[in-house]
Order: sequence, then structure tokens, then C-alpha cells
Amino acid sequence: MNKIDWNKLSFGYIPTKAYVYSRCIGGNWEKPVVTEDFTLTLSTFAGIFHYSPSCFEGLKAFRGVDNKIRIFRPDCNARRMQDSAKYLDMPYPSEKMFVEMCVRCVKENLEFLPPYEITGASLYLRPILIGTNPQLGIASSKDVLFAVMCSPVGTYSGAKSLSCGTAVISRNYDRASTFGSGCYKLGANYAQSLHAYNIAHKSGYRELLFLDSATKTTIEEFGSSNFFAIKGDTYVTPRSNSILPSITNKSLRVVAADLGLKVEVRTVQVEELAEFDEVNSCGTAVVITPLSSIDDKPALECEDVSRHYTFGKECGKISEKLYRRIVNIQRGLEEDTHGWCLFVNE
Ligand code: PLP
Ligand code: COI
Repeated sequence: MNKIDWNKLSFGYIPTKAYVYSRCIGGNWEKPVVTEDFTLTLSTFAGIFHYSPSCFEGLKAFRGVDNKIRIFRPDCNARRMQDSAKYLDMPYPSEKMFVEMCVRCVKENLEFLPPYEITGASLYLRPILIGTNPQLGIASSKDVLFAVMCSPVGTYSGAKSLSCGTAVISRNYDRASTFGSGCYKLGANYAQSLHAYNIAHKSGYRELLFLDSATKTTIEEFGSSNFFAIKGDTYVTPRSNSILPSITNKSLRVVAADLGLKVEVRTVQVEELAEFDEVNSCGTAVVITPLSSIDDKPALECEDVSRHYTFGKECGKISEKLYRRIVNIQRGLEEDTHGWCLFVNE
């Protein structure tokens, strides 16, 4: 193994030692296998190559101040993957199997778990579920492969934790439609955002903010994460059937209430951006990443900005408090009063 420079981690692929997989063939799950061979052999007619029967998850394992290893809320990821698979009408692992395979993946790759001292670093777990049986006609997959891989990661942007990013509103590209699959974690949802991301990145924006596809008047979420804002003493986050139910956002709402903030999950109009004190993206990969500004343009390709919303160059005080609380729970620095962390016995 090449020595990892823990201080240089960002959110990128780093080869690790092994991953864990299990196949479900004809309705029966095989015993999970640990392998160091990361290549897969599949029929070119496997559904995954044609109609995208694919969903995935993202969760993190942390080395704590007490040297213990914690995985943050893997049961929630297990259930969300089941929801995604149900939408795709394909077999899925039980919650127990999902969690056990995540734990196994961490144990098999302990040398890739960043040390406690590296703030913002963790071992990111990437469970995937893909349709594998050969097919030609449009149909859900009967046979699937469930695998859990991992990679050590730092912050999503590669910059220091809590450093601000910029975003642009996507008016001419949708990520999800009103009655579509936006509330599931399907690979296809991300495919829909790739082209728009490339345009935004070329113009220097870090993030894309999607609006509701029907009216383009309300805020949905970023391409990588949920949206939340602070207005006075209130935590505001959009309610919509076409955004991913973020486990980070769900946890932050609890933390916000614990800290005495009001919590509003409601329709959020785009113009409200002008009234928010602090604006952030939140998710497993981004944790909390504050936004310094958001541009509204008639189309992503336009040079003209019709409205420029600014939120300050530094992370807001309340958002920072929320961030500290959540990462302190994950790193064993504050009591996990809600029982969110699963301990991995070494
Ligand atoms: N929204 C999108 C589109 C995402 O990709 C993610 C990342 O998983 C999130 C929201 C945040 O979800 P979570 O906090 O469960 O990681
Ligand atoms: C995560 O936060 O885990 C995700 O899956 C988002 C993705 C942009 C990496």
C-alpha cells in the first residue's frame, strides 16, 4: 500500500484493500464474500448496462477521540437503500445484512481509516446495489449484486472544513421531476445532473441548486446535498417529494431543536434567499458546507446573472454550532444522546 498523506485527503477515489459483496440470484442471497479483486465479471446484457437498475448509499466511519470506531446511522442508510430498491422493484439486502457488510468493510480496511487527529477525515463507505441478470426488454432486475466499498476521504471540496463555496441555480436543467425518482438515491438521478454540473464548474461554481421542475419557483436541493438556511432563530429546509431525504439533514434538525432553534420543513420560495442569514448545503459527503453566494441566471450557459444573493464570506455562527455538534458526536467528543453511532469492535 502506498502511504496515504492524511493531510491531503479530499473527496476522491483512493484504492483500498478489500470490499464485501453478496449476490442475490433467483431470490436467494449468497453468503457475503470479502475480496481484494475489485474487478467484476458481468454479462454485457446485465440490466445495469442498459436501463440503470442502480442505487447506492454513502455513509462514514470515524476514529474517535477514545480510539473507538463509529459508523454514523447505518440503519438509516439501510432503510433508504431498501426504499430505492423497492422503487426499482428489485431485491434488496435486509437492514441487518446491510449493516453487517458495512461493519465488515471497515474491519477489512482498518489501515485506511484516518486517524482521529485528522479533522474532517473519515472512511467513506459506498454501498451499491445493481441489477445483474441478462435481459433485453425493459424490466426490473431479478438478480442483483450488493457490494460495500470504501475510501478514505477529507472534505468534499478539498478545502478546510466550513470554508464557503459558491452555487448557481439551475433553471434550464432539472435533476428530478415532480412525480419522478428524486427522493430515491438512484444512480440515474446523478446522471441527470452531470452535464449541468460540468457547465457550472466551468463557470467557477462549486454547487448547483435545483428548483422544483414544475414551477421553478421553490428551492429543492443541491446536486450533492440538501439545502438548509438559518433565519433568525429558525432552521429552514425545503419540504418536497422530489428531494433526497438526507440523513444528515434529519440529524441536524434534531440537533437544531436540541440547541433551542425552531425548525421549519416547508416550501421555500427562491426569493427567500434574500432573507436568509446563513445558507448551507448538508449531507454525508459535504457535512455542512456554507455558501457565500448563490447566482440566479436565466440559463446555466448565460454569462448574465439576473440576481446575486450573498450570505457572507464565512460560515455563520449558528451553522458552525450545528456543525461542531454533529462532528463531535461522530468523533466521540460529545455524548451521543440519540444513539446514532454504531460501534465497530476491532
Ligand atoms: N441530496 C443529494 C442529492 C445527495 O446526493 C445527498 C448525499 O447523499 C444528500 C442529499 C444528503 O443525504 P445524506 O445526508 O443522507 O448523505
Ligand atoms: C453522499 O453525501 O454520501 C453522497 O452520496 C453525495 C455524493 C455527491 C458523493
